[in-house]
Parts: sequence; C-alpha cells; structure tokens
Amino acid sequence: MGVKPGKMILPLLVAAVIAAWPLATGCDRMTRHQVLTTIFDGVPDPIPPEQILEDYYQRRRQQELAAAAGQEGDAGPGRRHVSKHKPYAEKKCKDCHDFSTSVGLIRPPRELCFVCHRDFRRHLRDPYVHGPVAVGDCSACHLPHSSEYTALLRRDRSKICDKCHQESRLAAVMHEKVINHQMACVDCHDPHFGQARYFLK
Ligand code: HEC
Ligand code: HEC
Ligand code: HEC
Ligand code: HEC
Ligand code: HEC
Repeated sequence: MGVKPGKMILPLLVAAVIAAWPLATGCDRMTRHQVLTTIFDGVPDPIPPEQILEDYYQRRRQQELAAAAGQEGDAGPGRRHVSKHKPYAEKKCKDCHDFSTSVGLIRPPRELCFVCHRDFRRHLRDPYVHGPVAVGDCSACHLPHSSEYTALLRRDRSKICDKCHQESRLAAVMHEKVINHQMACVDCHDPHFGQARYFLK
C-alpha cells in the first residue's frame, strides 16, 4: 500500500516553496528579490535608483502642493515653500545625488556645495571667514532642496543667527538697540565672509 519514494519529491518541493513563501515576502526588498529569483525565473529586477528618485520627487511635489493649499503636508500645515533650489526645481537630482554611494551624494556633504558655488571656495581665502562657512558646514543654515524661508534658510533671516549666538557680546548695548529696532544681523554682518572684521558690510 506504500507510496513510491519517487512520487513524494514533487509534493515535497511544493510544500517547501509554500513554507518558504512567508519568509520570502516578509523580508526587505533585496533579500526577497534574491529568494524569489532562486525559486523562479522571470522575477522583475529591483526598483532602479532613477525610479526611487522619481517616486521621491513626485511624493514631495504632492506634499508641497498640499502644503501650498494649506493642508497637512511634510512642511506642516499652512507652510509654503518660499525658496526653491534651482537644480532641485529643475529636477537635476543627479547633479548632487549618487545613490550608489553610502552618503547618497556625489561628494561628501561638506564639499558638495562648493561644486557649483565656486565663488564661495574662493572667498574661503578672505581675511575673515565665518566659522561654519570655513568648515563647509553650509547645512548649519541652509536646506538643500527648498525652504519656507528666503535663501533656502532653516529659519527666518532675522532668527538664523540666534541658533549659535546668544553669548553676551562686547558691543552688547549697540546690539540690544539694533535688535529692538527689528534689524536683522545680516543687515550689518555678511553671513559668510568679509574683508572687515566680524564680516561687517
Ligand atoms: C543641490 C544639491 C541637491 C539637489 C539638486 C537635490 N538634492 Fe536631495 N539632498 C541633498 C542633500 C545635501 C541632502 C541631505 C543629505 C543628508 O543630510 O544626509 C539631500 C537629501 C535627499 C534625500 C534624503 C531624504 C531627505 O529628504 O532628507 C532624498 C530622498 C533626496 N535628497 C532626493 C532628491 C531628489 C529626488 C532630487 C531631485 C528632484 C534632489 N534630491 C535634488 C542635495 C540635493
Ligand atoms: C548642481 C549645482 C549646485 C550645487 C551642488 C549647489 N547649488 Fe546652490 N544654487 C545652484 C544654482 C544654479 C543656484 C541659483 C543661482 C542663481 O539663480 O543665480 C543656487 C542658489 C543657491 C542659493 C540661493 C537661493 C535663493 O533662493 O536665494 C543658496 C542659499 C544655495 N544655492 C545654497 C546651496 C547649498 C547650501 C548647497 C550645498 C548643500 C548648494 N547650494 C549646492 C546650484 C547648486
Ligand atoms: C551662519 C549661517 C550660514 C551659513 C553657515 C551659510 N550661509 Fe549662506 N546665507 C545665509 C544667510 C542668512 C543668507 C541670506 C542673506 C540675506 O538675506 O541677506 C545666505 C545666502 C546665501 C546665498 C544667496 C546669496 C549670496 O550670498 O549669494 C548663497 C548662494 C549661499 N548663502 C550659499 C552658502 C554656501 C555655499 C554655504 C557654505 C559654504 C553657506 N551659504 C553657509 C547664512 C548662512
Ligand atoms: C551654526 C552655528 C552658527 C550660526 C548659525 C551663526 N554663527 Fe556666527 N559664528 C559661529 C562660530 C563657530 C564662530 C567662530 C567662533 C567665534 O569666533 O566665536 C562664529 C563667529 C561669528 C562672528 C565673529 C566673532 C568674532 O569674535 O570674531 C560673527 C560677527 C558672527 N559669527 C556673526 C554671525 C551672524 C551675523 C550670524 C547669522 C547670519 C551667525 N553668526 C550665525 C557659529 C555660528
Ligand atoms: C547695526 C548693525 C549691526 C547689527 C544689526 C548687528 N551687528 Fe553685530 N556688530 C556690529 C558692529 C559694528 C560690530 C563690531 C563691534 C566692535 O567693533 O566692538 C559687531 C560685532 C559683532 C560680533 C563680534 C563682537 C562681539 O561683540 O562679540 C558678533 C558675534 C556679532 N556682532 C553678532 C551679531 C548678531 C548675532 C547680530 C544679530 C542678533 C548682530 N551682530 C547684529 C554691527 C551690527
């Protein structure tokens, strides 16, 4: 009455594939792709970087449109994008990004901005250079894609300096006065560099 061993092989294989299925579908995209390709032929290739970029761009567009319409979006309710970086707006993502590298950028973050803003590299030899600019930390003050403030700033231009400068200044009285008169620090100080001490304009 026994079943011949040869006839057991196919059902066993099917059972093995079914048992492996939840494993194959539960894990991340790459592992799953590898497992599936080992079992079947004709599994589509993993999503190419261009597609991931395009998806990301479309998602951001939706969020920006939603935010502009005053709905909930990534930028928060009612927030608008006042400034947009030209290469980002023109979808020249690859001018900055290379998603095959670990940082996802064509250069290390502290060198990236100088690739196009060459005049900034030149100004690093000015007599006075602001600390964060000197070390290429542009992102201390700027966002790379778009911002709800002017000049891709992380905060309003009248508040951007407060983030690091709250120390009691030599010229304390004068500074107190100008702040009370609603002047912005960058009305007198260049944010990046200068020929004069304290980058005074
Ligand atoms: C001017 C250079 C530049 C351009 C152009 C640019 N990016 Fe970026 N992007 C950056 C930098 C810098 C970061 C921040 C990386 C970090 O902080 O690690 C970033 C972060 C990202 C991230 C990580 C998630 C996030 O939002 O922080 C994604 C995804 C991304 N960019 C997609 C895009 C796409 C899509 C485009 C084209 C529409 C684009 N970028 C254009 C410089 C750029
Ligand atoms: C691929 C080239 C490219 C790279 C890399 C790049 N920029 Fe720009 N950036 C531009 C261009 C083009 C403009 C527009 C210049 C103009 O209109 O005269 C611009 C303008 C700007 C502006 C002015 C925006 C405004 O609305 O006034 C800021 C600020 C800026 N970039 C910061 C950065 C920072 C910070 C980085 C590094 C994260 C960076 N850029 C990297 C090309 C680049
Ligand atoms: C301490 C904050 C701070 C840092 C760090 C900083 N910026 Fe700026 N940046 C500003 C502010 C503030 C403005 C707007 C000035 C204004 O509104 O008068 C600005 C404006 C700009 C502009 C447009 C106007 C112009 O001067 O051409 C560019 C381009 C720019 N920054 C690029 C850079 C790059 C590149 C770096 C890194 C090397 C950098 N910034 C680092 C604060 C900063
Ligand atoms: C990310 C932090 C950071 C931000 C934001 C920042 N600074 Fe600075 N600033 C520094 C560092 C670091 C130094 C160098 C250390 C020092 O001299 O105290 C410095 C030095 C200075 C100096 C020279 C002080 C001296 O005694 O020589 C001036 C002036 C100055 N910053 C003005 C500004 C203005 C104006 C802004 C806004 C546009 C600003 N800073 C935003 C970090 C920052
Ligand atoms: C009306 C023009 C004006 C404005 C606006 C202004 N400053 Fe100054 N700042 C000066 C002058 C002038 C000096 C040089 C004072 C001296 O030589 O003793 C100076 C010096 C400094 C110094 C270096 C000396 C010290 O006292 O530590 C720092 C840092 C500084 N300013 C930061 C700022 C910040 C941050 C803001 C915005 C909150 C700001 N300044 C707004 C004119 C201005």
